[in-house]
Amino acid sequence: MDSVNKVAPTVIVIFGATGDLTWRKLIPAIYNLYLDKWIPENFTVIAVGRSNQNDNVFRQHLHEGVDKFSRRGKSKKKDWDAFSQCIVYHKGELADATTYSGLEKKISQLEKKWKTPANRIFYLAVPPVFFEQISTKVGTSGLAQNKKTSRIVIEKPFGHDLESAKSLNRLLHKMFDENQIYRIDHYLGKETVQNIMAFRFANALFEPIWNRNYIDHVQITVSEQLGVENRGNYYETAGALRDMIQNHIMQLLCLIAMEPPVSFNADEVRNRKVDVTNAIRKFKYDDVHKNAVRGQYGEGWVEGKKVKGYRQEPDVNKNSTKETFAAVKFQIDNWRWQGVPFYVRTGKRMNESISVITIQFRPVPHQSFPREATGNWQPNRLVLNIQPAMGIRLRFQAKRPGLEMLLHPVDMLFNYSESYTSGTPEAYETLLLDIMEGDSTLFMRADQVEAAWEVLMPIINSWETNPSVNFPNYAAGMQGPEDAEALIAKDGHNWIVMPPEPE
Ligand code: BG6
Repeated sequence: MDSVNKVAPTVIVIFGATGDLTWRKLIPAIYNLYLDKWIPENFTVIAVGRSNQNDNVFRQHLHEGVDKFSRRGKSKKKDWDAFSQCIVYHKGELADATTYSGLEKKISQLEKKWKTPANRIFYLAVPPVFFEQISTKVGTSGLAQNKKTSRIVIEKPFGHDLESAKSLNRLLHKMFDENQIYRIDHYLGKETVQNIMAFRFANALFEPIWNRNYIDHVQITVSEQLGVENRGNYYETAGALRDMIQNHIMQLLCLIAMEPPVSFNADEVRNRKVDVTNAIRKFKYDDVHKNAVRGQYGEGWVEGKKVKGYRQEPDVNKNSTKETFAAVKFQIDNWRWQGVPFYVRTGKRMNESISVITIQFRPVPHQSFPREATGNWQPNRLVLNIQPAMGIRLRFQAKRPGLEMLLHPVDMLFNYSESYTSGTPEAYETLLLDIMEGDSTLFMRADQVEAAWEVLMPIINSWETNPSVNFPNYAAGMQGPEDAEALIAKDGHNWIVMPPEPE
């Protein structure tokens, strides 16, 4: 792959380097950037962990992660050996000042060797309880005093509710300027998610009909076959609303609903998204049950295998009332979207793993065809397949070949795998490169995160004060609880599930 290497000499300090995220996502992503020649010649990853490790043993552990999780499969020995020299292990307790003075020493030595100040990226790949401690130490130790070259990266969840998100923002802003803070939402790095903007704003055809006059409603489904696995501790504090809707699904909704940005300047794009988030109607306490549905999986079958219910998963309370499924009907109060419902749903242990956005257009204003012709008639539909299928599908009506006039839905399909032969970068590759280049377009700004929490707080408050009494209410391997069907059926719609390939 030809790439223009624009990245200045860089040191990435990863806190939580012995954790899963580093092993499965970060190092494989950095390694792929290296193979694609995006990594600058002067580059080091300093992996901070508490255990005793020597560089070689630690590199070997990362090597196994790359072989297992890289989109390219097993690495070539020569490439890995060359790349792995960039990784050094730094043992240290997060609370100890010496951990940070040791980092300063290591980074200064590198800068001296490279004869230039390096980009210093501090990546907090740790659980949220450590965000405050690490960011404060990084900020007060002087490690990040050069505001032009130092960046801090915070993984989700960003806050547990509106108040905690505001307080984390306040803390970060004491030490860092907003443009130094990179709040990750990995959905924004997905190729198909980035393509939503290209689709909407690089084509003249769709924008004129992208509004309440032509669009009947929008559906966003992010369903997963996976259960909570070994994340019971975290999930018990989160639930589907916090885990998926506050961030990933809200971002998808913004990309569909935002106004065209004037430019791709990071703040301009994010301003347009904040406008949408602010325009989402906030539910009154009594309206929550009309617009939001929750569910929790019981035992069931997924792909022919019997699986446990949520309450039987490790580290989960046997009487847990945490939701593993959520569906919400949002309304956006602005000129473009007034009266167009946005139905979103997400769940664990569903019947399939699929992320898809469906735009359902209004019916034709007058049906000129005779009744016999329109038995199969359907309104136009645009389907944006985010994953695992990647593509866009436009459904319209055509005349079925034959002597009679019979209408039948057909599809125009854009499929990544057929149109492009080059591999698709993983979300973390895109995001890490953006951080190195100092481009924050695909990262959450403080006001965005807070606006998203504001939308969800009435639902969270209502659900937490009135725990569900009928959990579990869907069997693993199903499409979620029946109430979710009712939520959309009462408006005369149903959840649209179209196979990624035309029937
Ligand atoms: C994470 C959630 O942010 O996204 C997980 O915490 C979820 O619960 C994951 O499984 C889904 O990401 P992806 O990229 O697999 O769709």
